[in-house]
Amino acid sequence: MTEQQILKALSNVQEPDLGKDIVTLNMVKDIHINGLEVGFTVVLTTPACPLKDMIGNACVNAIHLLVDKAAKVDVHFTANVSSNRVDSKQLLPKVRNIIAVVSGKGGVGKSTVAANLALSLAKGGASVGLMDADIYGPSVPIMFGVKGERPLMVTVDGKNMIAPLERYGIQLMSIGLLIDEKQAVVWRGPMVSTAIRQFVTDVYWGDLDYLIIDMPPGTGDIHLTLLQAVPVTGVVIVTTPQKVALADARKGIAMFSQAQLNVPVIGVVENMSYFIPAELPDHTYYIFGKDGGRHLAEEFDVPFLGQIPLVQSIREGGDQGIPAMMGDEALTRKAFMDFAGATVRSIAMRNAHVDSAKVAAALEKA
Ligand SMILES: Nc1ncnc2c1ncn2[C@@H]1O[C@H](COP(=O)(O)OP(=O)(O)OP(=O)(O)O)[C@@H](O)[C@H]1O
Ligand SMILES: [Mg+2]
Repeated sequence: MTEQQILKALSNVQEPDLGKDIVTLNMVKDIHINGLEVGFTVVLTTPACPLKDMIGNACVNAIHLLVDKAAKVDVHFTANVSSNRVDSKQLLPKVRNIIAVVSGKGGVGKSTVAANLALSLAKGGASVGLMDADIYGPSVPIMFGVKGERPLMVTVDGKNMIAPLERYGIQLMSIGLLIDEKQAVVWRGPMVSTAIRQFVTDVYWGDLDYLIIDMPPGTGDIHLTLLQAVPVTGVVIVTTPQKVALADARKGIAMFSQAQLNVPVIGVVENMSYFIPAELPDHTYYIFGKDGGRHLAEEFDVPFLGQIPLVQSIREGGDQGIPAMMGDEALTRKAFMDFAGATVRSIAMRNAHVDSAKVAAALEKA
């Protein structure tokens, strides 16, 4: 076997999202050949890539089919997380992708989705931070059981900065750990803006593949301030399936897409989609209606990222400082992992400049 034969065989393996083969995309590195043994590395666009196994199998098949059916193939994976953030202010320059989790309506599960998205991505091998920017109702202190903790200071390039806490393998910081929410309630707009801007500039996030921002509910000034201060990769819109939530989500999409902001929509995720009672596992109840989030995504031609069921343990975990991804319910964890996978695929495709209609179509097929 020669390196050339291997590369030729692997040029038949497609990266389905990017629509090109892995050799053309320069994803194959470090080919080693020793008799019938061949090993190489495939560099993915995200460590949490849900297509990893599929790509791995396709590589093995291609070599067996086109080079030698007795070859012993060892495919190794690494990731070089892509980014297309334009960070002209050099704010958070070492953060490759920033995902703001938003909703029109309050209480639809933004904080729950943001926290479990962060944990799912970390589980997939990415370095992840979670920034709770909900100045009036921060959730991270309770959801991660860090209420009352005092963050440490670090000196970075001679400047004193706040160090994020570490929990369950992710970096996290909440504006609620720095500012008393009871005070914030009576602040006027400009004070809130100043506090938010400081929160963004004074926390040292370091090197991250993904920074997830848990945003306050609604679509107000605070969102404008935040999204103008932080050049984000895009927003994930959380909605529940019922009409009132969808109507507010629509307003959200309109606001984020307006020319002044022009923030890309990474996709829509539907929370509290269905309920399966433990004692009647073959019954599914669509308490808030069916597929509202999916239809919303179709209406705006943005990717639909998944459905999260309504599960008592999700609420309990949130209240007890143990997010669902750290719990023991396999179906719940799978729902969050699938959603996280769809989210990073949408981002990777966007970073590779594939247009949004194509992204939506590819995710729909999966
Ligand atoms: N899929 C779910 N199953 C069960 N409970 C859930 C689910 N999603 C969220 N919850 C619960 O619903 C409540 C509201 O969720 P959460 O705080 O995440 O919403 P939010 O959109 O961040 O709210 P706010 O607008 O106030 O920031 C919490 O008690 C949370 O534990
Ligand atoms: Mg919240």
